[in-house]
Amino acid sequence: MSYPIPNTLNLPANAQAGGLATSIEDVRRLREMADDLGLPFRAIGAGSNIVPEYEVAEFVAVMKNRGVKTNVKQGVPHVDVAAGENWHDLVTYCASKGLHGLENLALIPGTVGAAPIQNIGAYGVEISDFIESVTVCDEHGLKQILSQSDCGFSYRESTFKTQPELVVVSVQLALSREFNPRLDYPDVLAEFDRSVGDANALVTAITSIRQRKLPDPAIVPNVGSFFKNPVVTVSIASRLREKFKNLVAYEVQGGIKLSAAQLIDHAGWKDRPTDKVGCWQQQPLVLVNLGGATTEDVIAYATAIQQEVLALYGVQLELEPSLLS
Ligand code: EPU
Repeated sequence: MSYPIPNTLNLPANAQAGGLATSIEDVRRLREMADDLGLPFRAIGAGSNIVPEYEVAEFVAVMKNRGVKTNVKQGVPHVDVAAGENWHDLVTYCASKGLHGLENLALIPGTVGAAPIQNIGAYGVEISDFIESVTVCDEHGLKQILSQSDCGFSYRESTFKTQPELVVVSVQLALSREFNPRLDYPDVLAEFDRSVGDANALVTAITSIRQRKLPDPAIVPNVGSFFKNPVVTVSIASRLREKFKNLVAYEVQGGIKLSAAQLIDHAGWKDRPTDKVGCWQQQPLVLVNLGGATTEDVIAYATAIQQEVLALYGVQLELEPSLLS
């Protein structure tokens, strides 16, 4: 038995077994099948943030449940969204209904259920800013509601990354009736002359920024940023400033956050594709499958980048997507 694992890097990859889940009952049923087969169970969405090996010794459930419910609690608009819904469709739906907050997260590929796992973020906004709770199906098939603080959110991290046994079945978001656009990122500011207009205009602007900078996974297979932006000590950052006149560096909790894209660019990786894997020209943090790449090819390329960035700058780059083995 084998089950092809959908993934936007277009890697040939199969789980030992798998199935589609259109409801929490399906999740329970599939988990029982996995238990009967003695396989670890994992749910995925559209495969836009995973790097699966050629053979994955797991049972993989692809979440396909649908549904968006809106309600108001103590004057605050909420949406309760099934894991299998498309993330970008949710962003445009909310903007069109006057439910605000998610605009800067437009065009992030993938499903709603996958969004909290890596705590998706862009242009100064993270999904964790809006999460009220996440409904999961636990390893015993029981429904549990995790509050925002139970989810262990930080930059591109959550408790779900290390607990694949918790299957996200729906996400509850607390949004706003007021449109308070977050425009402080230079790329975003540059899109507007004087005023931003309405939420739909901001969604359109973010969409065009991303379309200019990032490859469409449907055309050039990729999983977005392949590495996290590293956080280093003040002394490492100062040392690096001597090498880079224009080092991109932001003070964050725990140190100085650098731009992985800048380090990779500076090391010359944009000009060093293999015949199968390369860095995207407009955003070298994104590794692309140039045709026929296997997981080994992608990992070998990523490892070579990590080793060189470490040797040149003393900075360890961590992988951003989840590896499935
Ligand atoms: N840069 C270069 N060379 C390039 C491109 C960029 O040196 O060819 C440098 C520039 O100095 C630029 C800096 O990289 O100022 C940052 O680039 P960008 O604004 O594109 O942001 P990023 O830090 O590289 C992060 C997220 C993206 C998100 C953008 C916008 C991570 C790992 N990535 O990228 O998220 O869209 O910010 O907020 O945090 C993703 O997670 O898949 C993703 C695309």
